[in-house]
Amino acid sequence: MLSAVERKIEQFIADLNDKEISGLYAQLPHGKRLRAKLILKIAGNSLLVVKTAAIVEMIHAASLLHDDVIDDAYTRRAKPSLNALYGNKTAIMLGDILYSKGFLELNNISPDVAKMISNAVVELSLGELKDVSLSQTFNLDKEVYLEMIYQKTASLMEASAGAAALLAGKSKEAYMTYGRNLGIAFQMIDDLLDITADAATLGKPALHDFEEGKTTLPYIYLYEVLDREEKEKLRSMHAKNLSEKEQLWIKMKMREHQVIQKSYEEAKVLIVEAIALMNDRGEDALSSIAMQMIERDF
Ligand code: FPP
Ligand code: MG
Repeated sequence: MLSAVERKIEQFIADLNDKEISGLYAQLPHGKRLRAKLILKIAGNSLLVVKTAAIVEMIHAASLLHDDVIDDAYTRRAKPSLNALYGNKTAIMLGDILYSKGFLELNNISPDVAKMISNAVVELSLGELKDVSLSQTFNLDKEVYLEMIYQKTASLMEASAGAAALLAGKSKEAYMTYGRNLGIAFQMIDDLLDITADAATLGKPALHDFEEGKTTLPYIYLYEVLDREEKEKLRSMHAKNLSEKEQLWIKMKMREHQVIQKSYEEAKVLIVEAIALMNDRGEDALSSIAMQMIERDF
């Protein structure tokens, strides 16, 4: 049960015995708790499992606090981000506290779970750094993009599923593939939404990624099919604030060449593979989590 995870996180925070931290944590939106959901669906509701799910969500929350500072993002889940409310220093330190407490608690799980999760956090940090470096270039290499989103987003989902399998005494490979596929598809879809959703739905300005220098999959595909002049035009808009006219041009070209559809189909292949793996194991709840990810319009 997800509420048990919420209570466990609150208890971990209360252990710190610091009113300011409790007050700040209370203001963080919880999000979908997707990683915790995967862990519980794979491994059940024992105390060790709930603790593992709570630790993973604290680490994930920490990474988003840092990410919003890095991305200069002033909204998170349609609400002002913590850095917008209290400044970068507070957001960074709350992130540090959440992930160090998470690591402290990880010592009480098991060495193999601790190793799996810590290894993923190294990957996720390397992935975030790669995201930042890539945004300073006009990356057109799809493999580089895929590797970066694997590290930045999928590694922790892969490790969450793998750790849960270890706790449940299940063979971890299929669950790790499931988590990895879900993570990569999730990030691909998140990147598509930056283009297709309007600013109000998204809770952040549309095309923010490209303005920040990020060339996600649809941009990579679009560049491949544009003519020479259009390629130059797209390049000239990279990593700059876009006028409404420029935004409309990008969206029009993306529609013309159906690159959103093409990217979405690619995310779908990963989800379909993840669903098949779970269907083979009779893991219906895990299949439907994957299914929900692609049941939306673009
Ligand atoms: C969101 O990406 C970012 C991540 C999933 C990973 C961020 C990782 C770090 C900041 C490394 C530091 C780690 C710890 C534990 C403190 P995004 O910007 O594409 O997604 P968004 O649209 O949700 O902002
Ligand atoms: Mg971000």
